[in-house]
Amino acid sequence: MTARQSWSSWSATAGERWYQRHGLPIISLGLIWTLVLAASLGWNIHLLFANAHNHAYGIANAALDKDLAYRQLVAGAGGIYAPIEGGIEPNPYLAHIPHRDITTPDGVALTLVNSSYFTRLVHDIEAAEGQLRGRVTSLHPMRAANSPDDWHRQALARFNEGLEEIREVVTIDGEHQLRVMRPRHAQESCFHCHPSLPGIAPGDVFGGLSVSVPLGKLHGDLHAQIATLSGGHLLFGALGWLGIGLSYRRITRQQREREQLLRALQLRNQELFRLSDVLAHHFQEPTRRLVSFARHLQRRQVLLADEDDRLALGFIDSQARRLAALVRDAQRYLELDQRQFESGASTDSGPLLHSLLAQRAEEWAEAQVVVQEPLPTVAVDEQLLREIFGIILDNALRFRHPQRPLRLTVSAKVSDGRANFRFTDNGQGIAPEYRERVFVLFSRLESSRVAGTGIGLAMLQKIAQRLGGEVHIEDGEAGGCSIVLDLPVVESQWQVTSSK
Ligand code: HEC
Repeated sequence: MTARQSWSSWSATAGERWYQRHGLPIISLGLIWTLVLAASLGWNIHLLFANAHNHAYGIANAALDKDLAYRQLVAGAGGIYAPIEGGIEPNPYLAHIPHRDITTPDGVALTLVNSSYFTRLVHDIEAAEGQLRGRVTSLHPMRAANSPDDWHRQALARFNEGLEEIREVVTIDGEHQLRVMRPRHAQESCFHCHPSLPGIAPGDVFGGLSVSVPLGKLHGDLHAQIATLSGGHLLFGALGWLGIGLSYRRITRQQREREQLLRALQLRNQELFRLSDVLAHHFQEPTRRLVSFARHLQRRQVLLADEDDRLALGFIDSQARRLAALVRDAQRYLELDQRQFESGASTDSGPLLHSLLAQRAEEWAEAQVVVQEPLPTVAVDEQLLREIFGIILDNALRFRHPQRPLRLTVSAKVSDGRANFRFTDNGQGIAPEYRERVFVLFSRLESSRVAGTGIGLAMLQKIAQRLGGEVHIEDGEAGGCSIVLDLPVVESQWQVTSSK
């Protein structure tokens, strides 16, 4: 593989990785945002058009109502007479009517104007003003110019199915218009002037009245509003994308920082593991040798003769022993991290405590132990519980009061899935200000008076924490202290509360 190839393949996978981690979420969020905005824009535009069409419908409706009203008036009167002037001519289609044209006594010539003619005259005036276009049509027109166009023909056909009004936005000859049409029904009186209508009886649909409102101007007004609306949405959309981008950048930066922190922690952890390994394998042997050689030297009579030498040897011996104990305890403490805590374990704590006491009967001979039965069954494996109780018993014994026999009271309360153990003694006690410090690794309050490395309580705390609980110290009996520790109980005991 050439350098160029490896570079390009690296950048391709890096690009892909960037896209997987950052691009995909940003783009999908952005797309959702865009879709929401597009839907909102579409809906708003739809509403604008619907409003405009409603407005046009209002105009058409009013015009139709008016047309029908005066048509009814004129038709009811059987037509009205008007002077033959100003565009009003005798209607050739009324030629068969005997008194179509009359002359008033003072010599004014009048002609009969039927309702359709009247309507046509009104429509002509409206058309000249340019707003509305009205039509009276029928499938069998008397006047050829009243023939329906395709739309009218379809509408008339649907009126025959019982419809009383049809409205529709149509594009005819490239012009958008709203058309509204209502049917005219035949009456007996109509046949007077419309004698030969094939198959039409009174009540049947006989032509119709329509109005079309041109939408061009209304739509033109809408364009400006749509432009403003779109501009607003666009701006909003851009702000959204910007917001998504910025917050994403912040999130990824935080994530990166977290990852760095995690890596640093992992490194520290590895170092710690290494250290515990070193402790386990490289510290133990030299300390063991120190102890055995010190003992060897102590057996040499020559050396024991000298008081100073004897003291020095004793000192070496005790310090070597202490070092060995420290190494052993540090290792025990570190091992705790690697230890798997068994889940689903269950140990009856009462019998275990008694067996521990029995094993150490000699040490505990002078002490008085009061166990407030029953102690609960805890969800901790036996070995671990043995260790926990061991540390607590050791501690009580080690820090007992020099002037009085040790008295230890053990009790436990169960609530909410936890057992709250309390080990109360009458020993030396721990001053309140030191009650937290004693849990810190290798902190010993009275290094000279009592033996031990100060690891017990630190281990106890670590175990308690790993079991999801905690341990702390409270006042005990006669200046002594109480170790209060909570452990998980076995589920069947959740409801059982042993309160004493
Ligand atoms: C006084 C005579 C007269 C009466 C009554 C009359 N019409 Fe007409 N009607 C005409 C004439 C004439 C035309 C055709 C020319 C025109 O437009 O004036 C016409 C046209 C129409 C048209 C348009 C289609 C076409 O045939 O040209 C319709 C629809 C119509 N009439 C419906 C009616 C209805 C419905 C009635 C009954 C309520 C009625 N007319 C009563 C005289 C009359």
